[in-house]
Amino acid sequence: ARVYVPGDAAAVSVGADEVAAAFEAAGARVVRNGSRGMLWLEPLVEVETDAGRVGYANVEPGDVDAVLAGEHARDIGVVDQHPWLTSQRRVSFVRVGIVDPASISDYEAHGGYAGLRRAFSLSPAEVVQEVTDSGLRGRGGAGFPAGIKWKTVHDLEADLKFVACNFDEGDSGTFADRMVVEGDPFTLVEGMTIAAYAVGASEGYVYVRSEYPHAVSALRRAIDAAYTHGYLGEDIHGSGLSFDLHVRVGAGAYICGEESSMLDSLEGKRGEVRAKPPIPAIKGLWDRPTAVNNVLTLCAVPMILADGGAAYAELGTGRSRGTQVFQLAGNIKQGGIVELPFGVSLRELVEEYGGGTLTGRPVRAAQVGGPLGAYVPATGFDVPMDYEALAESGAMLGHGGIVIHDDTVDMAKMARFAMEFCAVESCGKCTPCRVGSTRGVEVIDRIIAGRADGQDVATNLVLLDDLCDTMTKGSLCAMGGLTPMPVQSAIKHFPEDFGPHDFERE
Ligand code: NAI
Ligand code: SF4
Repeated sequence: ARVYVPGDAAAVSVGADEVAAAFEAAGARVVRNGSRGMLWLEPLVEVETDAGRVGYANVEPGDVDAVLAGEHARDIGVVDQHPWLTSQRRVSFVRVGIVDPASISDYEAHGGYAGLRRAFSLSPAEVVQEVTDSGLRGRGGAGFPAGIKWKTVHDLEADLKFVACNFDEGDSGTFADRMVVEGDPFTLVEGMTIAAYAVGASEGYVYVRSEYPHAVSALRRAIDAAYTHGYLGEDIHGSGLSFDLHVRVGAGAYICGEESSMLDSLEGKRGEVRAKPPIPAIKGLWDRPTAVNNVLTLCAVPMILADGGAAYAELGTGRSRGTQVFQLAGNIKQGGIVELPFGVSLRELVEEYGGGTLTGRPVRAAQVGGPLGAYVPATGFDVPMDYEALAESGAMLGHGGIVIHDDTVDMAKMARFAMEFCAVESCGKCTPCRVGSTRGVEVIDRIIAGRADGQDVATNLVLLDDLCDTMTKGSLCAMGGLTPMPVQSAIKHFPEDFGPHDFERE
């Protein structure tokens, strides 16, 4: 029987390599698939049967015989019928966990390259229009319309244009970029090829963080296969498009996930934020027009082209069209990937999909949108997850990460962490961020020291609020500009953690 043992880094971290070796030793034909995103069940082994792929959860090497005999205690039935999956709407993740990420023919057999073929039947301008019609917005966090970004690059005349994929995924509690690339790397390669055709680029770069070695090898293997099969290189499948794709591995700086720092790093320089304008779409890599897109943005593109922009636009709510890949992390019982149309409530994600906290204690807060995102108190969980509704409630969607904390969390310490993170990761170019974050840590330390008896807490909170205001208004990029978001949301929603004080917020 064919046996699927995820090669995903999350599964490997809980022993999937040893499990795969044990199945091979027992004579099984092992495929290293991606993870289905039900991380609490890893290693989740699937055995092909006439009824479908039957899953066995938390398999250990000693379980091989029981699994192969169909007698393992943690049999979860046919994986495709698991309610956690059937209730989702997987578009970008449709093939993840299902296909063999090492096989381009498996990719094609599951609908791969249908989007590129359709793109080649259209003019580049029509492809841009299709993406505009889909309503796709940048999934890196800022939510800028992808079609408009592409149109800017498309409309410019230049000797050379680039597409650059931001695969730095630095946000804590996010892992969707990693999982889609490890589980279905050809989708990214196809998405970038469509982007190149649309904007007129001849070269592409994927900038990936060094912490993702499994993704780097999956991607390099996929790129090699795409060259071998004529999907990269000269005159791709007779379309006239010539496109070369390169992988570059970063050196571990959060700020290199900011697009202009990333471009500096790709050029071989120390990653430092560039002043905008000019935006990268006009003057990007080596001063050429460059379409910079996040992994998830590019991974939505093949489906949009294959099924049409209108089909994608049918999903979602308001100005947030399509699906969002939510990532449940932190103190959560059922962590993993939930892909759903925009508009699902945070409560549904945390309580129904996530099953509450791992510790079993009450949920107190969720940090949505990475380390620069706001803390949402459990009383605010009915907020619909879309760009506008979250912004209205003083939060942001960011890259879709949701980190859960139970009632033992100390929110003053979380606020301190946000400032400390900024102090460590600041690129140093502007003062509000470089100096402000260090002063912020000091002020919060004084608040923490004084909160038992309330000493100087009110004064220090006024000081902190003023500092946050300066950072928000005076920072050159989102690093310094958004750090106040977790700090101020913590103070607003959890004032009791900051000690007794009569500080009135305006
Ligand atoms: P931004 O709003 O300045 O820009 C968004 C994108 O639109 C950029 O690519 C920009 O070049 C482009 N753009 C803006 N105006 C344009 C125009 N007229 N034509 C064409 N393109 C245009 O936001 P920024 O600073 O790039 O990103 C901030 C966001 O990043 C935050 O909201 C945060 O959620 C997110 N973030 C994500 C992280 C991750 O790991 N994915 C880490 C940290 C922050
Ligand atoms: Fe650099 Fe911080 Fe200024 Fe951004 S806000 S440019 S990270 S110093």
